[in-house]
Amino acid sequence: MYSRVIPCLRCPLCHGGLVEAIAGSGLALHCANQHSFDIAKQGYVNLACPAPAYPGDSAQMVEARTRFLGAGHYAFIAQGIAGAAVAAIGQNADGLIVEAGAGTGYYISSALEALPGLSGLALDVSKAALRRASRAHSRCAAALCDVWRELPVMDGAAQVVLSVFAPRNGVEFRRILAADGMLIIVTPTVSHLAKLVGPLELLSVDPDKEEAVAASLDDRFQRVGHERHDVSLHLSHSEVTALVGMGPSAWHVDAGKLETRIGGLPECVEVTASVHVGTYRVCGH
Ligand SMILES: C[S@@+](CC[C@H](N)C(=O)[O-])C[C@H]1O[C@@H](n2cnc3c(N)ncnc32)[C@H](O)[C@@H]1O
Ligand SMILES: [Zn+2]
Repeated sequence: MYSRVIPCLRCPLCHGGLVEAIAGSGLALHCANQHSFDIAKQGYVNLACPAPAYPGDSAQMVEARTRFLGAGHYAFIAQGIAGAAVAAIGQNADGLIVEAGAGTGYYISSALEALPGLSGLALDVSKAALRRASRAHSRCAAALCDVWRELPVMDGAAQVVLSVFAPRNGVEFRRILAADGMLIIVTPTVSHLAKLVGPLELLSVDPDKEEAVAASLDDRFQRVGHERHDVSLHLSHSEVTALVGMGPSAWHVDAGKLETRIGGLPECVEVTASVHVGTYRVCGH
């Protein structure tokens, strides 16, 4: 596990610091109170206590996400995030960036590329996602936890917290951020993939989502930046299948019906991807 991240982690049971040690035939992190957390062969540590009831994205969804992101269709979002992070903390900053609900680690990796002094911690509840995230970047560690519960991160340890199409726990984001830290939240705009919503019967985006996100962070954060990024994508049918398969509609749409509906689309599907990148400072700083 990437050693520079370990001092930023805390035991989910007693909140003490963690160190790495050999445990049986593998490695584990443990605290001074002998609470021990296995590091999986795939490289991520399981810091979820109690074990989460919700398994997160399935292996199939993670596979679809890997294919779609790997083709570069959302590189513009990665660039927007990296640009916002560099503008916020400066290219030479050091410290920790945490992504909550990191999926395959695509976005945290591109932020780490842009910020060579930073170490990364990818948090997710999905084991399939963490297998990818733990190998996504040489300066990134990965941990299994439920983002709705206490995060296994020391108070004030993070310089940047990132949430991209993922759950947001404002109380915990505030606790783990340094006083001069930055929260970056990416949400879809109402135009995001809008042309596909009707024909494919996908979930639509709440038009007030961006404002609802800002309101849910209430008085802990102050929004200091807001950029909208729109890009026109040209997708094949298999790319549309991957796009739907990696997102929230994957839980709601029957695979057979989806295939039929996608078959009815033009051979080259033109659709707009559109996101807000909001940057927030800790209040009172
Ligand atoms: C839509 S995906 C976004 C992944 C990544 N940020 C990206 O955009 O590529 C949402 C991610 O949040 C994870 N997730 C959902 N609920 C979670 C929870 N309660 N705790 C931790 N991760 C969660 C899912 O497993 C999934 O990987
Ligand atoms: Zn402990």
